[in-house]
Amino acid sequence: MVLDEHQETTPSAILQGIMQCKKMDKGVLFIMWGAPNSRQAKKMMMLGSGELGKEVVIEAQRLGVECIAVDRYPDAPAMQVAHRSHVIDMLDGAELRRVIESEKPDLIVPEIEAIATEELVRLEQEGYHVVPTATAARLTMDREGIRRLAAETLGLPTAAYRFADNLEQLKEAVAELGTPCVVKPLMSSSGKGQSVCRTPEDADACWNAALEGARGKSVRVIVEAFVHFESEITLLTVRSASGTLFCPPIGHIQRDGDYVESWQPHHMTAEQLEQAQQIAGTITGHLGGYGLFGVELFLTVDGVVFSEVSPRPHDTGMVTMITQDLSEFALHVRAILGFEIPGVHLLTPGASATLKAAKASTDFVVSGLDEALKLPRTQVRVFGKPETKPGRRMAVALSADESVEIARKRAVQAAALLKEEYVHVD
Ligand SMILES: Nc1ncnc2c1ncn2[C@@H]1O[C@H](COP(=O)(O)OP(=O)(O)OP(=O)(O)O)[C@@H](O)[C@H]1O
Ligand SMILES: [Mg+2]
Repeated sequence: MVLDEHQETTPSAILQGIMQCKKMDKGVLFIMWGAPNSRQAKKMMMLGSGELGKEVVIEAQRLGVECIAVDRYPDAPAMQVAHRSHVIDMLDGAELRRVIESEKPDLIVPEIEAIATEELVRLEQEGYHVVPTATAARLTMDREGIRRLAAETLGLPTAAYRFADNLEQLKEAVAELGTPCVVKPLMSSSGKGQSVCRTPEDADACWNAALEGARGKSVRVIVEAFVHFESEITLLTVRSASGTLFCPPIGHIQRDGDYVESWQPHHMTAEQLEQAQQIAGTITGHLGGYGLFGVELFLTVDGVVFSEVSPRPHDTGMVTMITQDLSEFALHVRAILGFEIPGVHLLTPGASATLKAAKASTDFVVSGLDEALKLPRTQVRVFGKPETKPGRRMAVALSADESVEIARKRAVQAAALLKEEYVHVD
């Protein structure tokens, strides 16, 4: 908003002007706000408060935004840095609505997939601003929605796939696609319920694994032909007021469907990069809205293949906290607040490696920080999760070096020095 010289410039007059303009044109994003917890505050609500949400909140706090963290358990990482928090079942639409209506946030920022996204669609229709859009959150929480959009509507290259609602259909799909193939519940993340069907006889075990790992009530699975990729990458793609920009590609290694190592930049040919950007631009353009997206792609001898997309910062993108001038979290916050982003710069190559817990406990300490932090150009983020579970990500090590190879070695070394020590309580 531009004030002319005759206009009053007391804070309340400015505020009144803003409110008036807001009424006149609901579509205009006002990039100005007052102090957190004041009437003029800009309020951001995180739905999901894990380690990625924690970094989003920190970046929003830096710009003076009031932050409200929501998750299903208390003391979640983002809650520890937010102004206040709520503990609810985010898959329960009524609870989600209650907490949103009580806080009336300017921005609703989904951080995870497991949210009652149908309710978010309704809330968006009623005028709430869901990031990047409620439809993007709904489509990407369900592998069927995003796969059909990518492959059938947009014609992007993907692995061949089938859907199955029961064991019989799964066996038919396995017979059609051949083995090996990958079986995944429609709604799950971090590899939960996912398995490789190596022979037709594995189908029973794969079905049972999907049933156990599925989130929500859905027991439908997607069966995908196995992609023999040379490497896999995440292409962080930012849609903002100044258009679409791509971060340098991030290579990563997944174990049991969950990421253990990532690095940036990942070496790609100019042709591969062009294909990757074309795919990422198409899918994110179709999902729409402003924000950062993590586009997962396989690099194969036959070209780049689309895998999936998250309309939010990506776990493999934590490496950008050490490599880029604006991390993926800073980029997300700038984009969703409506700012233009003139560019993003790789300051140095770098890598990340994760620390995962071995068993379930609430009585533990993290050791080895002293040793890890002796390594050159190395940083650590301890997420502060109150409870460990087998395979749960508890911290990440970040290392920078002119050589990606050295950075990778050092990040892995640092992560290996970090340990969860379990305290025995009598
Ligand atoms: N069709 C496939 N062929 C070969 N490998 C695959 C295939 N699908 C998935 N994978 C492997 O499994 C990993 C996890 O798969 P996917 O990304 O679909 O699941 P996810 O549970 O959403 O994981 P996350 O939430 O951690 O991204 C992939 O990054 C890849 O390494
Ligand atoms: Mg994935």
